[in-house]
Amino acid sequence: MADCAHLLLRGTLPTRKQRRDFQREVRGHRLVHEHLIRFFQGFNHDAHPMAILVSVVGALSAFYNDDHDYRDPAKRDLAGMRCVGKMATLAAYSYKTAHGQPIVYPRDDLNLAQNFMYMMFALPTRPYDLDPVACRCLEVILMLHADHEQNASTSTVRIAGSSQANPFACVAAGVASLWGPAHGGANEAVLAMLEEIGTVDRIPKCVARAKSKTDPFRLMGFGHRVYKQMDPRARLMRDMCHKLLDHLKIKDPLLDLAMELEKVALSDDYFISRKLYPNVDFYSGICFRALGIPREMFTVIFAVGRSVGWIAQWIEMAGEEVSRISRPRQMYEGAPERPFVPLSERR
Ligand code: SDX
Repeated sequence: MADCAHLLLRGTLPTRKQRRDFQREVRGHRLVHEHLIRFFQGFNHDAHPMAILVSVVGALSAFYNDDHDYRDPAKRDLAGMRCVGKMATLAAYSYKTAHGQPIVYPRDDLNLAQNFMYMMFALPTRPYDLDPVACRCLEVILMLHADHEQNASTSTVRIAGSSQANPFACVAAGVASLWGPAHGGANEAVLAMLEEIGTVDRIPKCVARAKSKTDPFRLMGFGHRVYKQMDPRARLMRDMCHKLLDHLKIKDPLLDLAMELEKVALSDDYFISRKLYPNVDFYSGICFRALGIPREMFTVIFAVGRSVGWIAQWIEMAGEEVSRISRPRQMYEGAPERPFVPLSERR
């Protein structure tokens, strides 16, 4: 993940020394201000971790609010390192808060994926053994999610940042946009859909609903605004899913169901004619489930990976010679001119 983050933030794959220095710098930003940790205590035990994450990431701007003049490349890079260092910590703390468990501080001897698993699942009362295959799987998932040109959440970060707002407030806006089931929330929705289908014999009914013009139901994990062939990330995710389940010796009926659903949908004219293929969210949920990660954390992990792309895009935008505020226009299609009617005469 260090290579991926260095490439996105600094534009090149790191040399051995650059990688060592980069990892050391990120490690130095993994802790969050102890006063920020108090924010977590304000949430109910059943608060959705994305609701917690969007709040505490925004709150980072209260602790790191250097002047807004990010023309200094060193200031932009510092914001980037803080974001890369702190997102996994805040995400793991969101999990611990939602499960009423004590938070576990990051360790300097672990990489991003290992630390995330450790901070999420370790308890002060017993040792926690990291599974190298599971951590590698999580690391690949984080990389696959790191950046994806101008998707809704990345564009949200750039639009917010175009007003020269605090970078952490902009990243919080990205978290908010990613949460929606049409975007990053789809991985959580895929699992819910597979559980609702339940058995292979109910697939045709579900596919019929997804094709109906009157039913708003969509096949979660299928389709993409840009890809009109299989999302290359979904292919990698599917292979990794099989490897992980084999390694953990898990027989997950939902994976079998997902494979059958993919087969049925990919042979159906409606999906073929509309070039609707599985996207990155179709298999990630099954991988997360195999890693023992609860469903409400799936989009949080997407946010941890994507935050590297968000902050890299913010750095690119904040460093532009002429940074102009984003100001989309709109076509007015409302009522034509109408005379003003005083309140007393309105019916
Ligand atoms: C991500 O932008 C990114 O890069 C996003 C992302 C990233 O890395 O950031 O890749 C991550 O967000 C992936 C998408 C995750 N969302 C889902 O899996 C939710 C289910 N997918 C759909 O909601 C939908 O496919 C979208 C939101 C992803 C795309 O919506 P579009 O652009 O409106 O779809 P489209 O224009 O390609 O639709 C064409 C037709 C329409 O029917 P007709 O009007 O032609 O009759 O296909 C239909 C749509 O109704 N359609 C679906 C469908 N997706 C599109 N029908 C059933 N099931 C679906 N999933």
